[in-house]
Amino acid sequence: MTIKFHSVKPILDNNLKQVYIETYGCQMNVNDSEVVLSVLQPCGYSICDKIQDASLILVNTCSIRDNAEQKVWARIKQLGYLKRKKKGLKIGILGCMAERLKEKLLENGAVDIVAGPDSYRELPSLIEALSGGDKQINTMLSQEETYADISPVRMDKNGVSAYIAIMRGCNNFCSYCVVPYVRGRERSRNPQSIINEARELFENGYKEVTLLGQNVNSYLWEREVTFAKLLEMVAKISPQLRVRFSTSHPKDMDDSVLHTIAAFENICRHVHLPIQSGSNDVLKRMNRKYTREEYLAKVKKIKDIIPESTISTDMIAGFSGETEADHLETLSVMREVGYYTAFMFQYSERPDTKAAEMYPDDVPHEIKNRRLNEIIALQNELSHISNMQDMDKIVEVLVEGTSKRSTAELVGRTSQNKICVFPAGEHKVGDYVKVKVTSYTSATLKGILV
Ligand code: 5AD
Ligand code: SF4
Repeated sequence: MTIKFHSVKPILDNNLKQVYIETYGCQMNVNDSEVVLSVLQPCGYSICDKIQDASLILVNTCSIRDNAEQKVWARIKQLGYLKRKKKGLKIGILGCMAERLKEKLLENGAVDIVAGPDSYRELPSLIEALSGGDKQINTMLSQEETYADISPVRMDKNGVSAYIAIMRGCNNFCSYCVVPYVRGRERSRNPQSIINEARELFENGYKEVTLLGQNVNSYLWEREVTFAKLLEMVAKISPQLRVRFSTSHPKDMDDSVLHTIAAFENICRHVHLPIQSGSNDVLKRMNRKYTREEYLAKVKKIKDIIPESTISTDMIAGFSGETEADHLETLSVMREVGYYTAFMFQYSERPDTKAAEMYPDDVPHEIKNRRLNEIIALQNELSHISNMQDMDKIVEVLVEGTSKRSTAELVGRTSQNKICVFPAGEHKVGDYVKVKVTSYTSATLKGILV
């Protein structure tokens, strides 16, 4: 395959057709919205900041939990009102909900287009076909589509940090998860296109790339380029380019990746390693394919090979059949690992998943809620402890913006992915700054320039 690569910046031109893109859900969706804009710009579209100016509104959606979908349904209702006021306004639903619900979305009068995650190249023709008067839908999933040749239009404001999708889909079929059904089979993207994209970003002033995939550790290109190799190739672009990655599945996280991180200072010292539950019984029903002991052995490896690394996680409270003893095992594993932060959720049964078929959603809502609150309270404690350990340390912060509280302060992240606020001095967005940590909360480090 020859790879076309062109730098694409947002076009802001009032004379062109105006598209407004709203994104829900994960980092992959943020990146997909950038791909969508990249597909639309050559067809005469300009991105607009104000929804009232748009002739086309695209909503990139998430299906991971029921409340994510409910939010979008509420939004579709609001967009319906807007549509009645503005003649000619078209509305498209993209992403995971488009794939999951298909025609059901078209039954809503407000929606004109439904396009799944693998059909964004078709958007221009779907939009054009609307002139024939019929609503349009494309939810074909692909075994090959990686949008490798499409350079996403960067919609971020800071110009410092960008996402690069290195693979799509998921083959893991965790029993609770809808992702394999709505994003299809796992496929890796041509490494040369990834390197080109990262290099281009660096040449355009970006200082950090996050390599994205549902399970980056199983990245493999033509049986040769593993994730460790890819990480090394990206890290070698420049020591001034920070490299992050997300998400890792514990069963696929091998030592070679950890040694690669250790070997390159610009690969950030942070591993996001979702555990979901600390109980072996629950992990088995979740089809996670590792035990608590195996997970802890991976954590030990991380701590041995990259001692300065932080570890974060995802957790689900109240999965089918979860007992109080299972819940206590989740709390104890959290203490054992000492996560610096975590994404914590109540179990939400998703239609058509293995769990929906095989395991009843039998933990009452109040109990799920109480367990989640206990998990959150413990994580708060652990975040405090983790940040306390940074007191008086000198950390290197990549500046991402000015602090929300004061324009005299800047904010950025450390290699460990901790947010750090400090006096601006002469520094600006995109600089690497050495900061001495002088205070902290559970969410933020505060420091002074050194
Ligand atoms: N209910 C609750 N949380 C879920 N996640 C995935 N599916 C569900 C579900 N059905 C969480 C997992 C995953 C993260 C992206 O979302 O923790 O790692
Ligand atoms: Fe869902 Fe599991 Fe795949 Fe993550 S690894 S996207 S939780 S099926």
